[in-house]
Formats: sequence, structure tokens, C-alpha cells
Amino acid sequence: MKKLNGKLKYNIAVFISGRGSNLKSIIDYSLKKETSYKVKMVISNKKGVKGLLIAKKNNIKSYCINFTQSKRLGNKVLNILKKNNIKLICLAGFMKILPTYFIKIYGGKIINIHPSLLPKYKGLNTHKRVIANKEKFTGCTIHFVNRFLDSGKIIIQSKVKITKRDTSRSIEKKVLKIEHSIYPKTIDKILSTL
Ligand code: GRF
Repeated sequence: MKKLNGKLKYNIAVFISGRGSNLKSIIDYSLKKETSYKVKMVISNKKGVKGLLIAKKNNIKSYCINFTQSKRLGNKVLNILKKNNIKLICLAGFMKILPTYFIKIYGGKIINIHPSLLPKYKGLNTHKRVIANKEKFTGCTIHFVNRFLDSGKIIIQSKVKITKRDTSRSIEKKVLKIEHSIYPKTIDKILSTL
């Protein structure tokens, strides 16, 4: 734990693969005095992504390591997390499946946000599939990560209504808006239970 703004804060790591809009909302929220965490590091499996720039702008240490296919690199990441006393890993648009040994070591301390009302629409292209199936609602889910895709225990969900005029782009916008509102707060809640 580190003292920030006179308050003790837990260290968290955010794993990304791209744009990083959730990362940004988590960082912004973490800077509030009452928040219980600090984004200590960002890990991206991809070079040159926008999320890495967001980390840089906020003076957050970032690592670009494509580690999921290599046990050596996976262990390197685990060492970095341990050295930095990372209490919780938050996946935010991280597009790889974490290896089983990795999940075992960080058991119960990895969470993810997914843009659908799980268990419906696991995987990619959720909004397109939601439209194709003429769903009336969609939303986002925050869940613990286990070794199966988008299948760990659900922590919280938030819904949005789909109208006839919605496109997958407009649904993405609506869903991202609720993602940005619930993910940072949920991290606070989860940390208080760990
Ligand atoms: C979000 O929709 C999130 O739910 C999903 O990937 C997207 C990441 O967006 N897992 P961003 O990189 O946070 O902007």
C-alpha cells in the first residue's frame, strides 16, 4: 500500500490491448481522494496502442509484453506484479486468454469487464450479435476471471435499452458509457473484500 493524497492506496495493474478508454476512467477515478487504489502499472500485449499513451500521460509505468504464449514471459510479468505488490489485476480490453498457471497464482484477484450481459454473448462482436438477435436490452458485466472465456463468477451487471434506431456503433457508445461508470467503482468494492 502507498500513501497518496494522505490516504493509503492499494496497487492495481490494468492489462490492455488497445484503446484504453476503460483504463482512462479507472485512472481518473483512482485520483480521487476517497478511492482506495492507485494504478501502479499498465501491461499491454500490443505495441503502439492508445492505452499506452494514456499511461504515459498519467506518469504510470507501462510494460509492453506479449506474454500469454510464453511461460518465461508469463513468469516475468508475475515477478513484476509481485515486486510491485499488486493486489488486483483489472483486464480492460485485454484481448488474450490468460494461461491457467497465471490465473492459479493470482487466483480470485483478476477481474474483467465484458460488453454484454453474460452469460449471453461471450467472446467478440457482441453488439453485432445483439442486434442480429433483436435483443431489447444489452449491457456490460464485470466478472472474476477463470480459465474459461468470459465465464468466471459475475460481480455486477449494468443494462442499457436497445431502440430500433440503434446500430452496433451506437450500442457500443451506450455500453462504454456504463462501463466507464461502473468499472472504477467496482474495483473499489472488490478491493475492500480481498
Ligand atoms: C470494452 O468494451 C470492454 O468491455 C471490452 O473491450 C472493450 C475495451 O475498450 N473487454 P477500451 O480499450 O477500454 O476502450
